[in-house]
Amino acid sequence: MLPAVFRQIPLFFALAAVAGCASPEDPAASAVEGESRSGAPVLGLSSGARAQFDRGDALFERTQRDTDGLGPLYVRAACADCHRDDVRGPGFVEKLSIIEDDGVTASADQSKLPFGHSVRPYTTAGATTPVLAPQGDPRVKTSRRLGPPVIGRGFLEAVLDSEIERQELEQATRTDGIHGRVNRVTYTSEANPGSMSRLVKGDAGLVGRFGLKARIATLDDFTADAFQGDMGITSPMRPVELPNPDGLTDDDRPGVDTTLDVVNDIAAYMRLLAIPRRDLPSDPTGAALFVAARCAVCHAPSLRTRADYPIAALADVDAPVFTDFLLHDLGTALADGLDEGGASSREWRTAPLIGLCFDHVLLHDGRARTIEDAVLAHDGEGSEARASIALFRGLSSVEKAALLAYVGAL
Ligand code: HEC
Ligand code: HEC
Repeated sequence: MLPAVFRQIPLFFALAAVAGCASPEDPAASAVEGESRSGAPVLGLSSGARAQFDRGDALFERTQRDTDGLGPLYVRAACADCHRDDVRGPGFVEKLSIIEDDGVTASADQSKLPFGHSVRPYTTAGATTPVLAPQGDPRVKTSRRLGPPVIGRGFLEAVLDSEIERQELEQATRTDGIHGRVNRVTYTSEANPGSMSRLVKGDAGLVGRFGLKARIATLDDFTADAFQGDMGITSPMRPVELPNPDGLTDDDRPGVDTTLDVVNDIAAYMRLLAIPRRDLPSDPTGAALFVAARCAVCHAPSLRTRADYPIAALADVDAPVFTDFLLHDLGTALADGLDEGGASSREWRTAPLIGLCFDHVLLHDGRARTIEDAVLAHDGEGSEARASIALFRGLSSVEKAALLAYVGAL
């Protein structure tokens, strides 16, 4: 059983979501977007797919216990603690990095953090020593990451590599500073024979899509990674407990803690979560300004999905994902000091603008309470988005309101 502190919601999460959502009474719209609520599956699923969605839904909500193999160290005990209602937070991960004197660049020597870059504050199964932030060391930077939304992630997985590579090539010719890059990643898990990707350990050059720095290519790999890193639940894909100060290699459930079926059911759940139906303003001004202010360069409104993606509803469609999947240098103000999976301290994957009206806070660490705060935060020193934000600042208050209303409905 979890102590009550796990279940407390920080005050700001009790506030209303950042913008209004479509009303549930509105008539159903396109096949790509689902119902006007977060947490609903894509439309038109077979009964088998629907059953797997429901199984994955329950597993995503489930609080793992010691007897399930929780620990020896963990951050939270359920996926839904950090992805409540399938959107952002309230649970989070505190990240640690050794930084250079500039306060931003990750140091080449991270040996002061032998147990990795995540605070793992809770112990169980015989562990006594959590991984906490070293105190009073100015060279250790801590930063917070809220669990990002998981809705619409099947569309993100289904987008063609070539679409993402095309964005990179097109941006390379720009003269306004926007020049994102694909994060090429290597598959480090054991193979998952039930997966659609058929990846084997060591496969390199993959297009990173998931994680705030696009460090992982597929949803089943992310599930196995989250189980292992956030909960201490090992799986056949990630069979080893992470290093910990007590040197423990197992927990109260001997051996590998969960099964590939569980990993695949949860991955299927996230694949099948629809993009909530958007109730966009009837006045086209906001959408036009989104393009004119160059938001759409990074937040690419639509990318084509693979024709051979195994979920028919997601295959060969224009996916309204509002991301280019590329890493962008957003400058020093948003930097987290962390070099991760080929992405530097200042680089972030363009956040998909999906279901924003269901989020209570925005940006990787939840620092923004409104869409406008999130936009202005793109403007740190050295950010690729500065020209875009200058255009935003130059809009009249009526135009700004139209743009923000449009983004808030995405
Ligand atoms: C302690 C909080 C926490 C828990 C528990 C947690 N997550 Fe997350 N999740 C995060 C954070 C933080 C990120 C961003 C991580 C990164 O950038 O690598 C994330 C990212 C993700 C992403 C990538 C989304 C995207 O847009 O790229 C997926 C998918 C995901 N989590 C699924 C899961 C699943 C499935 C579980 C349970 C097995 C889970 N998470 C448990 C905090 C959590
Ligand atoms: C150079 C690429 C780039 C440009 C241009 C850009 N963005 Fe972003 N945007 C990002 C990245 C990267 C993030 C994620 C930053 C983070 O989480 O710290 C982001 C995050 C956001 C978020 C927060 C989403 C969330 O889920 O938290 C909003 C809202 C947003 N952008 C809107 C805009 C608008 C509106 C414009 C145009 C005025 C714009 N962006 C221009 C790259 C860009």
